[in-house]
Amino acid sequence: MDELRARIPLSDIVGKRMKLTRAGREYKGCCPFHKEKSPSFTVNDVKGFYHCFGCGEHGDSIGFLMKHDNLSFMDAVTQLASLAGMQVPKATPEDEKKYKEQASLYGLMDFAARWYEQQLHDGKNKKILRYLLERGLSLDTIRGFKLGFSPQDEKGLQEALLKAGFKISAMVEAGLFKNSTRNQNDIYQFFRSRVMFPVQDFQGRVVAFGGRVLPEHYGGPAGKEAPKYINSPETNIFHKGRLLYGLSRARKAIGDGEVVVVVEGYMDVISLAQAGFKAAVAPLGTALTETQMLELWKVMPEGKRAPLLCFDGDAAGQRAAGRALERALPILKPDHSIKFAFLPKEHDPDSLIKEAGVPAMERVLKNAVGLFEMLWMEEFKGRQMSQPEAKAGFRSALEKRARQIADMNVQQFFIHEINQNINDIFLTKSSAKKQSLAKPLFKGKKPQMDVHTPYRPLAVRAGQVRSDRSQQMERVRILLALMIHYPELYEEFGESLGMIKITNTEYDQLRQTLINLLGEQNSLDYQAVKQHLSDSGHGKALEMIFDRSLYLHAGFARPGQQFDVVREAWREIWERGFMNVRAS
Ligand code: UTP
Ligand code: MN
Repeated sequence: MDELRARIPLSDIVGKRMKLTRAGREYKGCCPFHKEKSPSFTVNDVKGFYHCFGCGEHGDSIGFLMKHDNLSFMDAVTQLASLAGMQVPKATPEDEKKYKEQASLYGLMDFAARWYEQQLHDGKNKKILRYLLERGLSLDTIRGFKLGFSPQDEKGLQEALLKAGFKISAMVEAGLFKNSTRNQNDIYQFFRSRVMFPVQDFQGRVVAFGGRVLPEHYGGPAGKEAPKYINSPETNIFHKGRLLYGLSRARKAIGDGEVVVVVEGYMDVISLAQAGFKAAVAPLGTALTETQMLELWKVMPEGKRAPLLCFDGDAAGQRAAGRALERALPILKPDHSIKFAFLPKEHDPDSLIKEAGVPAMERVLKNAVGLFEMLWMEEFKGRQMSQPEAKAGFRSALEKRARQIADMNVQQFFIHEINQNINDIFLTKSSAKKQSLAKPLFKGKKPQMDVHTPYRPLAVRAGQVRSDRSQQMERVRILLALMIHYPELYEEFGESLGMIKITNTEYDQLRQTLINLLGEQNSLDYQAVKQHLSDSGHGKALEMIFDRSLYLHAGFARPGQQFDVVREAWREIWERGFMNVRAS
């Protein structure tokens, strides 16, 4: 049925039966279903729907033929099929029943959305509109997302729907009303006194709503007894796990190659869109499902199919990212992946943009981690790898995860990359290593490779098989990264940072600026620090420090880690690399 509708533009069918003129993205004409002089009948080819603002008539191509040509459902389907050059699908009476139900549900939801929107802009509810404006949304944005308000009042919507010809049973079916348990014939509104967020399907049809409770000082309930958001139940036309909020609006921007950002909430999508991130979408109160990933990939252009998933910067966010990785691995395909972006603690995109501005959000997105890197960090976390069998265990664990990838092409590249990285870090044949192998092990000395902290920096150990010089450079790099991402370290370790010998001029100069900055201002967040360094001409050094390889062996240098782990890591690297230098 969908294919039928998709093959022939609705405007072709309608345009053969009445006069249509183009109006922007739609067509307009005088409604064939009621008498009128000025055109209020619109046809939208993208949505595949016609709608009359005069009489409320609404439907798709099948519905139009049924109504206009007075055809039965079967005849309308047959006629469309022959126009489309398709085999006539065998429509059963059940199909017909389902079609009718769905058509009326779409119409009903669309009507309700417009009714809620009217309420929001009605003078008597100006307090509600003010709530949205005060949250920083512009009128254009509010209109663009068709936000609305569902009053407490029990009967307003019900009466309007009845008048427009919708049945009580359809109102319940659509999830907007519930049957009263007290009185069998009575229904009551599901959304009461809530800000309404219409949820549209891929074709832009309203299929569900999210309703946000009002804060107490805008007339919402006292205390926290009401859930912040309630969402429409699953219906014939609404399947939560398949839909993404904002996708139909974002579709064009996504097609144009804008970076796709997956966030958690309604307000995040809206704020991002208002701030110019036009390709933001959100699942509806759940984690992103495999189906939703597939839906996203479908609309993303070749070469760019890796949406950025945003997670909170806390431990729960890390776990959620881990689960997203688990879901993505089996369905990865060539050029089909996801990336992980982490928000500063205590922020969602909406609050971050409001408090720290668009550049702060841009930095979050820019620091996104690739899927391979994420996998590596996930497996690396918490392992102690002083012993060869532990290293082997690390490699097997990575390979085991890589074998979850069903696509052999991608899987082979993962295995290859795993081995290459393991090679670089554990197995590089350097002169230092040959020497150490030539010597009897642990002669007189305690082995230096015992591990204390879970985030024990691999680079330090890897360094033992690298040349001293590159090992030392790597330590400098990690210390700088830590100090930049955790300016809190300055108080305790600023002095140590000032003392170490840095041979690389770029790093040395960056250190100077960093120390001056942190000495003067002690409450900067890391993004401000980075910005300052890059504004002061240390862009190249920053790039060298935060090269992708950094997190492969120093995951703890990433923003948002536990501070005691970070502090421990700093201490250990400094002690191993520089303390003796100073003493001698
Ligand atoms: P949040 O609690 O982060 O809300 O829930 P938010 O999007 O930041 O909203 P504001 O800024 O407080 O207005 C994120 C998403 O989780 C779902 C909703 O989809 C929400 O947008 N959610 C949240 C629910 O479904 N029910 C709830 O009670 C809370
Ligand atoms: Mn929020």
